[in-house]
Amino acid sequence: MTTRRVVVITGASSGIGRATAVRLARDGAAVVMCARRADRLEAAAADVRAAGGEALPIVADVTRADEVRRLVDAAVERFEHIDVMVCNAGFGIAGAIDDITPDQMQNLVDVNFMGTYHAVRAVLPIFRRRNRGHVIVVSSIVGKRGVPYMGAYAATKFAQAGLAECLRSEVTGSGIHVTVVFPVSTETEFFDVMSRETGTIVTRARGPRQDASVVADAIARAIDRPVPEVFPHAWSRGLVWLNAAAPGICDRFVQRFGRKPVRPE
Ligand SMILES: NC(=O)c1ccc[n+]([C@@H]2O[C@H](COP(=O)([O-])OP(=O)(O)OC[C@H]3O[C@@H](n4cnc5c(N)ncnc54)[C@H](OP(=O)(O)O)[C@@H]3O)[C@@H](O)[C@H]2O)c1
Repeated sequence: MTTRRVVVITGASSGIGRATAVRLARDGAAVVMCARRADRLEAAAADVRAAGGEALPIVADVTRADEVRRLVDAAVERFEHIDVMVCNAGFGIAGAIDDITPDQMQNLVDVNFMGTYHAVRAVLPIFRRRNRGHVIVVSSIVGKRGVPYMGAYAATKFAQAGLAECLRSEVTGSGIHVTVVFPVSTETEFFDVMSRETGTIVTRARGPRQDASVVADAIARAIDRPVPEVFPHAWSRGLVWLNAAAPGICDRFVQRFGRKPVRPE
């Protein structure tokens, strides 16, 4: 039986998920890591072990409820319990709403929203049995305030936050915590994936950027001291206040954060 903190992270083969896995490994966590690319997942698992953690890489696609259930079952079989579920797997597509195809929209919903839902649904019975556990949902600052050309993606990020907010109010007073993380633009493979998905060059928006390690540190702090919402970039919470107070002014302000896709010549 392990006394390590047991954390399941979806989308742990790169970016924020991988950085979080390695960050938590430094505190000695056991990290159950999922993604679709086996080679990248194995490399991330090796980083976790090198950082002092225990790693259990499981190839799984979060759009498949049965695969997410298998992930959770594997975690419990190996470590007997789960302390934290980080719902992180996701991707983005940039484009004006009328340029996004129904298939692209469906794919975003399947990965970003349904992937989160499947993970939450799979882990909650385990948390409820122990009256203990922590769900962490990685949304985005555009899950609080939309920006131009990110409408389809932002819709899924709002949906994740809505699910988490309702869940948090359902488990208030219990030993189960729910945290939503709202990163700003973060240096990961996210923008490469976005360009690949649309066959466009996605211009990097103006605005604040952060390293994946900053988000990972913020998630690690939230695990130690659970809070409802985490804004890893200090100023980003100001955007939420501005939007609540003056959404019309905010519409003009966020023009600078739009990511207009450009077709290569
Ligand atoms: N980067 C940013 O600017 C930014 C800002 C705010 C929020 N976020 C959010 O942060 C989260 C992580 O993104 P990232 O920036 O770290 O991008 P990333 O480097 O592209 O990482 C995405 C991760 O999700 C996994 N993934 C994608 N689809 C999956 C699926 N169907 N099943 C299982 N795993 C899947 C990928 O692994 P495989 O391809 O191997 O499956 C990868 O490990 C996302 O939810 C994203 O929306 C990112």
